[in-house]
Amino acid sequence: MKRMVSGIKPTGSLTLGNYIGALRNFVRYQDDYEMIVFIANLHCITEYQDPAQLSKNLKDAVALYIACGLDPKKSTIFLQTDVPAHATLGYILSCYTYMGELNRMTQFKDRMAKNEGNISAGMYTYPCLMAADILLYNPDYVPVGDDQKQHVELTRDIAARFNNKYTETFKMPEPLVQKVGARIMSLSDPSKKMSKSDETNKGCIYLLDDLKAARKKIMSAVTDSVGAVQLDKVNQPGLYNLIEIASSLSGRSMEEIAEEFKDQGYGSLKRYVADVVCAELEKIQKRYQEVLDSGILEEVMAEGAKKAAVIADATVADVKKKIGLQF
Ligand code: AMP
Ligand code: TRP
Repeated sequence: MKRMVSGIKPTGSLTLGNYIGALRNFVRYQDDYEMIVFIANLHCITEYQDPAQLSKNLKDAVALYIACGLDPKKSTIFLQTDVPAHATLGYILSCYTYMGELNRMTQFKDRMAKNEGNISAGMYTYPCLMAADILLYNPDYVPVGDDQKQHVELTRDIAARFNNKYTETFKMPEPLVQKVGARIMSLSDPSKKMSKSDETNKGCIYLLDDLKAARKKIMSAVTDSVGAVQLDKVNQPGLYNLIEIASSLSGRSMEEIAEEFKDQGYGSLKRYVADVVCAELEKIQKRYQEVLDSGILEEVMAEGAKKAAVIADATVADVKKKIGLQF
């Protein structure tokens, strides 16, 4: 069975973008692949997090993974810090990564451009830790949203460099990015990614949003003044995004949806998108409450970490030996 590895940062509550771009695909793949999924809590603290809030987010994230359909019997689910090999290999790989490479990472460049000052060293070297997260498990594929593709490509460069210097150690992982739904945009500004750090809170739908609030965000999504429902990503990015969301969740093609609403107003299309989204959220939220009430989370995490550590520790042992870190 081929293997997949991926992670999500529990910085805030998980979003519809996380669900469509990543989480939902983990669920789809878990029957045909060996799926390893972790909560990337080390990645969160590249920026200050309120401790009580962070701790709550971790628990929510695990519960949501399961509520969205990840089955702990099929997939390995764990907390990154419960497998210390992540931090160990993360440090080691930072010694095989050039500053020039890190400087070229779009996410980092965007942060620098915003000029917020005080970017932590952890934020800068974060792609090295992400490379470790992946290479520890020698996966075939890494299912991610579009924004993470560059980091997986860097991971491949680091792996190739290491393999060349020593001997074949790491398998080359392939990023797996969906054609539809790889980059869900903000509802209030379709030029920006839908993101947990949305300040206005109008552009981002959270999986645990109250259904009425979620509906309201969709009904007031920014569109355009063209006045016709059609698929035009350049001139009608807001509309395109709404159709992409509905297509991702309903399994219907974007063309089919656009065709259905072509003679109707934007309001009708928005109502349809809201119906599709709210039906999905309702299902997830119901399961979420059941998962929380069931009290299985601690056991799932402990089991997951135990299974993951067997693979991860073997990789670190091999890497240490190859580098000469042991006698
Ligand atoms: P993050 O929340 O940044 O840890 O992202 C976790 C996963 O969700 C990664 O695979 C991201 O690429 C994906 N993701 C995050 N936001 C979006 C979005 N707006 N559209 C599609 N995928 C996303
Ligand atoms: N960096 C990813 C994000 O912000 C999360 C992540 C961390 C990840 N480690 C990973 C994703 C390893 C895939 C594989 O979205």
